[in-house]
Amino acid sequence: MNQQITRMSPSVFVLILLCLMPIQSSSSSPTLTITPRILKKSGDTVLIEWSNVSSPSNLDWLGIYSPPDSSHDCFIGYKFLNTSPSWASGSGSISLPLTNHRSNYSFRIFRWTLSEVDLTRLDEDHNPLPGTAHLLSQSEPLGFAAGRGPEQVHLAFTDVESEMRVMFVAEDAEERYVRYGEEEEKMDEVALARVERYERDDMCDAPANTSVGWRDPGWVFDGVIKCLKKGVRYYYQVGSDSKGWGTTHSFVSRNEDSDETIAFLFGDMGTATPYSTFLRTQDESISTVKWILRDIEALGDKPAFISHVGDTSYARGYEWLWDQFFVQIEPVASKVAYHVCIGNHEYNWPLQPWRPDWAKTIYGTDGGGECGVPYSLKFHMPGNSSEPTRTHAPATRNLYYSFNNGVVHFVYISTETSFFPGSSQYNFIKNDLESVDRNKTPFVVVQGHRPMYTTSNDKKNARMREKMLEHLEPLFVKNQVTLALWGHVHRYERFCPLNNFTCGSMGFNGEKSEAFPIHVVIGMAGEDWQPIWAPRANHPNVPRFPQPQRSMYRGGEFGYTRLVATKEKLILSYVGNHDGEVHDRVEILASGQVLNNGGAGGSICSVTAGSGPSGAGFEVADSKFSWYVKGASLLILSAVMGYVLGYISRSRKVNSLRKTWTLANTEAVDTACGVLGLGDSVLLQFLHSFVLKCIRIPLPP
Ligand SMILES: [Fe+2]
Repeated sequence: MNQQITRMSPSVFVLILLCLMPIQSSSSSPTLTITPRILKKSGDTVLIEWSNVSSPSNLDWLGIYSPPDSSHDCFIGYKFLNTSPSWASGSGSISLPLTNHRSNYSFRIFRWTLSEVDLTRLDEDHNPLPGTAHLLSQSEPLGFAAGRGPEQVHLAFTDVESEMRVMFVAEDAEERYVRYGEEEEKMDEVALARVERYERDDMCDAPANTSVGWRDPGWVFDGVIKCLKKGVRYYYQVGSDSKGWGTTHSFVSRNEDSDETIAFLFGDMGTATPYSTFLRTQDESISTVKWILRDIEALGDKPAFISHVGDTSYARGYEWLWDQFFVQIEPVASKVAYHVCIGNHEYNWPLQPWRPDWAKTIYGTDGGGECGVPYSLKFHMPGNSSEPTRTHAPATRNLYYSFNNGVVHFVYISTETSFFPGSSQYNFIKNDLESVDRNKTPFVVVQGHRPMYTTSNDKKNARMREKMLEHLEPLFVKNQVTLALWGHVHRYERFCPLNNFTCGSMGFNGEKSEAFPIHVVIGMAGEDWQPIWAPRANHPNVPRFPQPQRSMYRGGEFGYTRLVATKEKLILSYVGNHDGEVHDRVEILASGQVLNNGGAGGSICSVTAGSGPSGAGFEVADSKFSWYVKGASLLILSAVMGYVLGYISRSRKVNSLRKTWTLANTEAVDTACGVLGLGDSVLLQFLHSFVLKCIRIPLPP
């Protein structure tokens, strides 16, 4: 053989090489394989493997497509190949848990070069979206097994106490049912679900009505199961014999006679994706769902429900994120009713019907063109509120409603549609608050999306807050609303009992308490963008953010709130996601008197998971005997606290008269003043900082 090669002329040798090259190139083409080809259900994982990627680059990426024939730019997500440890070898793998979008997936790998970076195509984080000019390889399609039943199950109360609404999504409109019963092995009762869907041209703006954002949303099924006994656990499945039945779930039915109420409340949670996409998604939402699931499971057979006060999925016109959201919440929403109110990210679009001049910069494009359609059809809340979209899109629903749950009357309102006197919503709120039977429900909790009070530096919504204070606060105060819960600001903040920015008496000194509403901002469940707290008015550019006296507790930690109420007392606790523990809580008597000032006091230790007299994982209801004992103790405690607060109050007045600074953030000052080890190069800067931050200058009055 060697002799034969030696005898070849150079031209023949080159010819042979040229002939061999395509064969050699073909044998080393990039490959992309997936295992398995069929997944059973949402959340199952596919292993995506590639090999033979020559000269691997940091910009090589994997596109995730559903449906599989989507054009290259219409991916639902992407991951860079360098997230695989072995990527530099030209081979690697990525595991992805996938959501069933009722159509197959496919995967493609692309080469993207620096010269092709297009700074006009950016994601929400202002990163350029990857280019699709050079396809390296494409996988076979991946599907989901047929016959496993619908997914995205979520419950809701109806206007009838003995009912429970069950909603879910399926791939076609063929009849589906809810079958249920008190025993898991005997689900003999059946309810037919009605079905609805919406189309691409129901969407009002981009990206919802574009090929990038739009995907087939499937068919939304809505079944109501009736004649439920009070406070009983029911097992149920959704589906049909011909198309298959889903997972068996269970819930505990409502009981309005109960002298106990348990709810988990938060706003602005969103969803998380295992890939990058056009929007920044909310990774923290995973922890929020995890801790609430822990609490629900700890309750045993006690009923509860969830309240999500707007900005639910943050899909904002990217339809597949709604699937992602409902799959993510199913572990909790299939066990307890999941109640919502509308937020800007479900609704706002340039032609929305109610957009007064003062609100033109407030009501922007935050809905991503959805104009409330997915929100209105994918949820079905009590009541019959609706506003026309003034397009051919279905009317916007789930705007305002109320229900009793145990000892609490819950009211949900819309800050995205008119709440002015004369509007149907205003009339509803007024009539509803005036007709509450406080003997039956001594507590009233109102929830809406945009807050009436916040100390966040959220200037954009200032006019909205003015209008809410003008039109809604008088109703809240007059009707002695116990709690007003809000989202939109992605922080937790609890205020004193408020009326027109003024704290009412909390009764700490034994004086008569003023039962003003306690406003709490609870938009900390997942979305992470937020203006920082408001700076001082006279030093807007100096980073100091004093906490006004009316703001009793504020924190930036992600989490949710837990409401536990008996006839005598309502407790609202702020649970942080980093540890699942309580970081603030407030206790309010039926009279409106505030029993404690929350904070990280010792009392919160008694409500940590796994403890508590009810065995439900946290403190649920005190016995009357212990309540009387605690009442006596609290009287003594109130007297002591009154003395202490009186002393503090007098001290503050003296300080005020002396016109001296009380620095709000002493920790920051200590830090700034403690950096004496800085090098000479920043000495002047440090001295300047020191003069500004450490020398106390008299305040103007
Ligand atoms: Fe919002």
